[in-house]
Amino acid sequence: MKILLLGKGGQVGWELRRSLALLGEVVALDHDDGGDFTQPAALLTRVQALAPQVIVNAAAHTAVDKAESEPELARQINAATPALLAIEAKRLGALFVHYSTDYVFDGSGSQPRDEDAPIAPLSVYGRTKAEGEDAIRASGCQHLILRTSWVYAARGGNFAKTMLRLAGERDQLKVIADQIGAPTGADLLADLTAHMLRAARVNPALTGTYHAVASGETSWHEYARFVIEFARARGVAIKVAPDQILPIPTSDYPTPATRPLNSRLSTARLQQRFGLTLPHWQQGVERMLLEIL
Ligand SMILES: NC(=O)c1ccc[n+]([C@@H]2O[C@H](COP(=O)([O-])OP(=O)(O)OC[C@H]3O[C@@H](n4cnc5c(N)ncnc54)[C@H](OP(=O)(O)O)[C@@H]3O)[C@@H](O)[C@H]2O)c1
Repeated sequence: MKILLLGKGGQVGWELRRSLALLGEVVALDHDDGGDFTQPAALLTRVQALAPQVIVNAAAHTAVDKAESEPELARQINAATPALLAIEAKRLGALFVHYSTDYVFDGSGSQPRDEDAPIAPLSVYGRTKAEGEDAIRASGCQHLILRTSWVYAARGGNFAKTMLRLAGERDQLKVIADQIGAPTGADLLADLTAHMLRAARVNPALTGTYHAVASGETSWHEYARFVIEFARARGVAIKVAPDQILPIPTSDYPTPATRPLNSRLSTARLQQRFGLTLPHWQQGVERMLLEIL
């Protein structure tokens, strides 16, 4: 099986190179080697020449706040080019794998949303990701769209590393406590992708849109406390006292893009249809911490 992986240098893209390698020949591209989403004509020529059986798109404009001031670029990368890739996938008879986000929802309420819940994005990022999803479904190609949330990886910067740095420097930390979601490892997403695409190639009835996040839920505040106390217990120099990691509302930390408060996603459909078990978020975060500490 020939698999084309786009966005190979991102958090998920990096892990996919490992997970997809077992499934066949992986051709992995990034901006600078023919996989630039702002140059769709060149990218499509490349896809046509490669004629893959599977296209996995891990490229995206993920700078949520920056997207507010560059909506056309975000739309090109998150919606317009994925739409063209989906049409090409349909022509090639290829399976198209794509990632989306909890930001397609408005985050109202306190219940987990399933895949059929109405979308109502609050930001340019969320809107362009929703447009990308819609275009892929409309293309008629066989697809897997995995909506995920709060993605982290050991490689590169992440929320846990930022909290550990600040906890080593400051007497007090203020962290948002009213956004609820599930931190999800890029490694988990990549492994899920490999299992799901293998199963969907055998049984096309499994294609469609799925929520793909770790189990359990937390706030950014609880997540920060978990990370800092895990590090403290392992002898890392931490300045901030446990009772000085203070919860704040989102309204105390204004950002250009509005974030959903309720990012809970139900993964029942994925777990039932694919016979997979999604581990608790703390399991993956502990593993990442052991790698970086
Ligand atoms: N990160 C999250 O918390 C999160 C949450 C929910 C859903 N998702 C979704 O999960 C997927 C993977 O995200 P991630 O966390 O792996 O994001 P990421 O680390 O930001 O990776 C995105 C990749 O896309 C590349 N890219 C940006 N502009 C491009 C262009 N014009 N042409 C080609 N490649 C381009 C980036 O390259 P550069 O870094 O060189 O720009 C980067 O390698 C995305 O679809 C994202 O929307 C992410």
